[in-house]
Amino acid sequence: MTGFDHASVLQDEAIDGLAPRDHGVYVDGTLGGAGHSTALLDRVPTATVIGIDRDPSALEAARERLARFGDRARLVHGEYGEIATILRGLDVEHVHGILLDLGVSSPQLDRADRGFSFSKTGPLDMRMDPTRGPTALELMRDLSVEDLGELIKDLGEERYGKRIARMIKEALHANKLATTTELAALVGRAIPAAEQRKSKIHPATRTFQGLRIAVNAELDQLATLLEVFPDLLAPGGRCAIISFHSLEDRLVKQRFRDLAWASSLPAKFAADAGERLAPVCELVSRKAIVASDDEIAKNPRARSARLRICARTAAPNVPATTLPGAAAARHGR
Ligand SMILES: C[S@@+](CC[C@H](N)C(=O)[O-])C[C@H]1O[C@@H](n2cnc3c(N)ncnc32)[C@H](O)[C@@H]1O
Repeated sequence: MTGFDHASVLQDEAIDGLAPRDHGVYVDGTLGGAGHSTALLDRVPTATVIGIDRDPSALEAARERLARFGDRARLVHGEYGEIATILRGLDVEHVHGILLDLGVSSPQLDRADRGFSFSKTGPLDMRMDPTRGPTALELMRDLSVEDLGELIKDLGEERYGKRIARMIKEALHANKLATTTELAALVGRAIPAAEQRKSKIHPATRTFQGLRIAVNAELDQLATLLEVFPDLLAPGGRCAIISFHSLEDRLVKQRFRDLAWASSLPAKFAADAGERLAPVCELVSRKAIVASDDEIAKNPRARSARLRICARTAAPNVPATTLPGAAAARHGR
């Protein structure tokens, strides 16, 4: 592969899940090295992919890899959270499938200068799109110690968030924190040794995860896509999302479940109660699809992958209820 070595996770499962059709138009919102897109275009020789990535170097690699498909692959530098605007700009009203394979790619992790890796010395950057937004270092400088602590605790799921934040702020103040490995060492000092012995992962894993999610507004991006995708899918079109941690998977699971809900009241009563008459989407599989032992053995990154798929129905995209309270309470929200 063209200098972009990334093993696609759950590739067959994701493409099977999209059930691509002849002449279908698909969005790959996290194009990366185009592993999934290549598989889709190979499988259905009349399909088209609109590939979006916020990382210019990923797009460059994907462009080379997808060149043989000609205009069946259209590439866009942008964020998948802007999918509605991107499709409007391309004059595309509806698509037949949307795929997200969240998180960072191996080349992003492997290149020290991107600042994602705690084991390679690099600047504290962590931006997937190095052309915009604050770096991790700028973010840590700008936030108060309290907000930084909350961020590391909530987005990194790190119980020592407060202590780590305090030490980060002290180190920044003393001009002693500029690189990834300095941050990793600092986190190592903040977490008690006994805790570290109990854990299988590097002590800095959670702090780096929290900072990366914040720098790239990853949960906001996902929440926006989850909000708008039903309006962009043609009836029967599918949305397949591979996530790598529970914060993302929870958002996907809840939104898909919400869209699959319809009132159990007889239609007349449901209409009177302002409840949704028919599901906006159907769940293609009840449970998340996970990688096989075989795939995990070849690619350990696949261990935490969760794939969820839903299919758009022909029903109107209306909220589960238009009445505050009643139906929402019954729906357990
Ligand atoms: C795990 S990789 C995708 C790998 C790809 N599926 C493959 O098989 O080669 C994730 C990619 O999504 C991109 N990305 C992450 N969040 C994004 C967002 N909100 N908008 C656009 N691209 C995003 C990253 O830059 C990265 O290149």
